[in-house]
Amino acid sequence: MRLQILSFITISFFFACSSTKNIVGSNGPVNPYQYTSLKKSIVKNGAVASAHPLASKIGVEIMKSGGNAFDAAIATQLALAVVYPGAGNIGGGGFMVARTSTGETIALDYREMAPALSHRDMYLDAAGNVVEGKSLNGHLAAGVPGTIAGLFESMKYATLPFAKLIQPAIDLAQNGFVLTQREAVSLNYLQDTLAKYNTMRTAFQKNIAWKVGDTLTQTDLSNTLKRIRDNGAAGFYEGATADLIVAEMKRGSGIITLNDLKNYTAKWRTPHSFNYKGYTVVGMPMPSSGGTLLHQMLKMVEDKPLPTYGFNSAMAVQLMTEAERRAYADRAEFMGDADFYKVPATGMVADTYLKERMKDYQPGVAGNSTVIKPGVLPMKESEQTTHISVIDKQGNAVSVTTTLNNGYGSKTVVGGAGFLLNDEMDDFSAKPGVPNFYGAVGGEANAIAPGKRMLSSMAPTLLLQNGKPFLVVGTPGGTTIPTSVFQTIVNIIDFGMTTEDAVYRPKFHHQWLPDQVDVEKTFPVAVRAALEKMGYKIVERGGIGRVEAIKVLPDGSFEAVADNRGDDAAEGYTPIP
Ligand code: DON
Repeated sequence: MRLQILSFITISFFFACSSTKNIVGSNGPVNPYQYTSLKKSIVKNGAVASAHPLASKIGVEIMKSGGNAFDAAIATQLALAVVYPGAGNIGGGGFMVARTSTGETIALDYREMAPALSHRDMYLDAAGNVVEGKSLNGHLAAGVPGTIAGLFESMKYATLPFAKLIQPAIDLAQNGFVLTQREAVSLNYLQDTLAKYNTMRTAFQKNIAWKVGDTLTQTDLSNTLKRIRDNGAAGFYEGATADLIVAEMKRGSGIITLNDLKNYTAKWRTPHSFNYKGYTVVGMPMPSSGGTLLHQMLKMVEDKPLPTYGFNSAMAVQLMTEAERRAYADRAEFMGDADFYKVPATGMVADTYLKERMKDYQPGVAGNSTVIKPGVLPMKESEQTTHISVIDKQGNAVSVTTTLNNGYGSKTVVGGAGFLLNDEMDDFSAKPGVPNFYGAVGGEANAIAPGKRMLSSMAPTLLLQNGKPFLVVGTPGGTTIPTSVFQTIVNIIDFGMTTEDAVYRPKFHHQWLPDQVDVEKTFPVAVRAALEKMGYKIVERGGIGRVEAIKVLPDGSFEAVADNRGDDAAEGYTPIP
């Protein structure tokens, strides 16, 4: 077994070859025991960029067999639930932003919901302090999963039967697939945690270390997927699967009930759309902060000479950092599930408001988060982590971000059902001003309440040019999601970068609190020094984001790029040499 780097953008995995009958999709062309991974594809007919080569390939195969981008997005998400258990899921939730072939823009919310028995102070001890880890690990961390409801809602725009879209995932779970090096390392790292937070042995546990090329088989998961195939959403939210979830809750003192599951609904939302330099940006509205943050940040820099400053110049990074600081301050104060809290959705993105927000921006001088607070909005307001980018030649463009929250979610697998539950409850503000896992603070707007959806940072996004798809983009990364998407867009529109450069080049992140600029290791040393001189605290960290981007080129072909920060793969069909 060996891992071969063939070129900068093409990686091939050669694993012990198994019998051909184990090929996904009964005689289909995707071989889960031997597969290549492309980081970039330029194609004519359809493209998928996702976190795992097998999932991207399955999406493409679905389009080749007559499906559209919605079919592909559904099949890719289901495949990710098997081959990418750290984030791909059926026990979590997500958001979809899409443009249909008829020119409609849509947004689907299948975010997890707080169970009926949840309450505002459920993660506090008797002294009123947040109990560390309680909202992150184990049964109590899980919100009511939304993914399966979301997939069935998005079937409205699909063309193939659901049974065909889920079959590759069933095959992968039943017959297994070989692990990449990264996945093996990550499962090994997880062993102690799995032992701690599970009441039954899981498919991810092993007595000796996982290694690249090992086959991971998930029989319980394949049976759950079959129940969903045969019974629709009820195969998850009712019957045997629901019973297994509730039994798991009982064994682990969790609070999700049969009623919580039965009452879960995915919701169609109006996309958060705005104009940036002639492009229509279509983003996710509440309960994700993604679209709003993107709107605020892009508008705060739109009238500044970013192209003159240049990519990763100290001036550009400073300006964008100050925009990020101000947007995230508003996130902490004003953003939450708009069905539960009066989010000042219009006021926060009003041009005059955003201009006012940038009035105290001083080029060359670091702002300060104890001085720069959430904005002052008019009192009266009118009512109101894994990413997949897919495109097809009919004009459908689908941008989906879905998550368990942290890697492997709550680390709790539903016994007998084989899937991990999310730890999305940590995205609520457990106590005003106390940071969550991603360091985000919040208050009333994002307090826990039964049936409420926790505020997200996920930002599945589309850019349209003259109403037609131009860019499909998104990323995981917790609170760094909107800043990663912001920077990818600016890199393409303002700095004129290639899609590859826009995705691969080093990123930075500021989220108001803590008052620091996070930078990737490869961030230029000289720019870092210049920022420090202006008064910024710079903190080096691991990769920021794993962006999947598909850009439509002037000749109408698709340039799909998968981030080089992971196993991510960009596949398509009818390649252009
Ligand atoms: O919804 C959110 O904002 C988070 N639960 C996303 C988590 C995430 O991106 C994890 N990936 N690194």
